[in-house]
Amino acid sequence: MPIIAPSLLAADFLHLGAACTMLNESEAEWFHLDVMDGSFVPNISYGLPIIEQIKKTTSKVLDVHLMIVHPEKYIAEFKKAGADVLTVHYEACPHLHSTLQLIKAQGMKAGVAINPHTSVELLKDVIQDIDVVCVMSVNPGFGGQKFIEHTYEKVSALKKMIAVANASTLIEIDGGVTEHNAAKLVKAGADILVAGTTVFKAADPKAMIVSLKHC
Ligand code: DX5
Ligand code: ZN
Repeated sequence: MPIIAPSLLAADFLHLGAACTMLNESEAEWFHLDVMDGSFVPNISYGLPIIEQIKKTTSKVLDVHLMIVHPEKYIAEFKKAGADVLTVHYEACPHLHSTLQLIKAQGMKAGVAINPHTSVELLKDVIQDIDVVCVMSVNPGFGGQKFIEHTYEKVSALKKMIAVANASTLIEIDGGVTEHNAAKLVKAGADILVAGTTVFKAADPKAMIVSLKHC
């Protein structure tokens, strides 16, 4: 069964507390928190003070997805705000290996997100050092976009690479995940499913989390 990581980007920001309560009562294990800087991606979301408040509401895993340039500058701050998993973008890190070590030195799990155009092969030399690979199944920056079908092939290739390396890296899928593609993604090798719109725009978000989990 996959870990479900609902993305609060799709929640009603005026009622963020209620969204956290709903997730705490749900079968979701992780909270997925999208941080955007208007530079790495053409959108701005929220940052440290909001994450600090969310942390106070939950003992679940805070999975922080940094869509920002120079993420290495903010590792200690995100740890302080409550991140458990800190994910940086491959495309934003010229010194990825070193950035991963810095994240782990702060006691967090280290994640690497790859954009749709980035080949999984590029992670081969660093796969042992990655706790979570976040495969972007949309172009980062916005919720509610259409799932890119090529993702399945990337997930299968990544799963093989992880097995060959005898690594324990988890595969996370982010963008356009629905109850219709969840089972196929898990079959291809996904361990974690991020879902924003699918969960928060559902008539019954908790029931939607159950169906994604038991897909
Ligand atoms: C997109 C973000 C996603 C987003 C997913 O840049 O990384 O986490 O919230 O939203 P949905 O599930 O609506 O595609
Ligand atoms: Zn995300």
